[in-house]
Amino acid sequence: KIPESQILIIFGASGDLTHRKLIPSLFELFERKLLPDKFLIVGVSRTKQSTEEFRQSLHSSIIGNGKTYATDNPYLKNFLREIYYISCDTTDCNAYVALFREIEQLRNAAGIEDNMLFYLATPPQMYATIPICIQAQQQNISKNGWRRIIIEKPYGSNEDEAKQLDKLLCGIFPEREIYRIDHFLGKETVQNILVLRFANSIWEPLWNRNYIDHIEITATETLGVEQRGNYYDSAGALRDMVQSHLMQIMAFIAMEPPSSFETEAIRNEISKVFRSLRPLSPDDIAHNILRAQYSEGKLNGTKLPGYREEPNVNKQSTTETFVALKLYIDNWRWAHVPFYIYTGKRLSEKRSEIIIHFRSTPQALFPGQCCGDSCNQLIITLQPDESIRLRFGLKQPGTNFEVQQVSMDFFYNSLIPNKLPDAYERLLLDAMRGDALLYSRSDALELSWHYLAPLIDHWEKEKEENLVFYPAGSPIPREITHIYSHPYVLEAPVC
Ligand code: BG6
Repeated sequence: KIPESQILIIFGASGDLTHRKLIPSLFELFERKLLPDKFLIVGVSRTKQSTEEFRQSLHSSIIGNGKTYATDNPYLKNFLREIYYISCDTTDCNAYVALFREIEQLRNAAGIEDNMLFYLATPPQMYATIPICIQAQQQNISKNGWRRIIIEKPYGSNEDEAKQLDKLLCGIFPEREIYRIDHFLGKETVQNILVLRFANSIWEPLWNRNYIDHIEITATETLGVEQRGNYYDSAGALRDMVQSHLMQIMAFIAMEPPSSFETEAIRNEISKVFRSLRPLSPDDIAHNILRAQYSEGKLNGTKLPGYREEPNVNKQSTTETFVALKLYIDNWRWAHVPFYIYTGKRLSEKRSEIIIHFRSTPQALFPGQCCGDSCNQLIITLQPDESIRLRFGLKQPGTNFEVQQVSMDFFYNSLIPNKLPDAYERLLLDAMRGDALLYSRSDALELSWHYLAPLIDHWEKEKEENLVFYPAGSPIPREITHIYSHPYVLEAPVC
């Protein structure tokens, strides 16, 4: 469905997210004719520049975005014509009078309906100010369409802040018009978890504690904190990746089948998973969680600085750049099945994947047969190669019954030869269409913060306790074995 006529107003328009993700994704949608005929993008930020200069900088970002476009690509020219820039001090509510006057003029001139989608691609400190200033302006204007807002993560930095932000936003926008973005949910492979599970009958009988031994959810990166030292040093891996992306993935893996494919039916199931999480005890914090920070190291022959040497990072920082957790979901489906979550920066490879480890057979009949608690595996890889692999044992050709582990592989690029659409394409389109299925609901976010609260509080008090270090560019820190009672290998153990 093509979205209705509307105007997209991006706050934080001169920033990295706008250039690297939002505009290239909007251009892809434009090229695929998925944007409304009557549509405008207005970039807003403090930087003084003209619309022409803004278009020039966006042009370079699109051209430099991995895909090759001719600089005179007619689509690109037409797309850039739909983009305007307004410089505004967004911390000053008075400045919004002129801002909205200009937006109104652009909207009227282009004959666009009175529908406005606001995107907050700004630092989190602005998540309260901008909506308050928008409201101050909007309440004096008669409006004939909708107002919708997209908020980037981090949505608060703890449970209280998330609640305060919700209270504020819900006083300004109806809940159904608040879109809390989690870009992992825009990834094809993450959405496919739902289809894999609920469009096929073969998994459901096995998808429970009777057949699944444990589950691993991993997201490792080779990148460090880049230019985001300021933000990252106050966030750390737990807030940056676990509270949002990885807990959402866990919910997709663990949720019950929804009663329908309606947004609220799915969101209800996600919240139920979070409600069933076993609260973190002091014992869990001491034994089932590992935090670590990268020190100086090397990746592919290049020397890399330690985290504390990164720009805008405190030289004595105790912020974790790696975290591993073992957690339990106390419900009928998952009782006693450990879920392991690992994520970290500056590791040896970029890999995001989910491994479902099935239980072994009751007896090992054949030599070489997999045994122990990590036998058949279903491996859903989000990155680097989007794929699904099922690993199982087969007879080695020959006169004996030697068993060999093999895998049945599906690669996404067999369905779509070009690269998969970027997560932001899908999410932007959904917000424009008014479909919030792939956005987080406030209760789920609050519940995930609530779950992590004891850990966050503990680390705030015990800043150095159990913090270990790993050299940049190394594999997952070996201290992981304290919490992961299974060998950390893809290959199943052989009897
Ligand atoms: C972001 C985090 O939300 O996700 C980053 O803030 C992280 O620190 C990024 O690098 C990872 O996303 P992706 O899509 O590159 O795996």
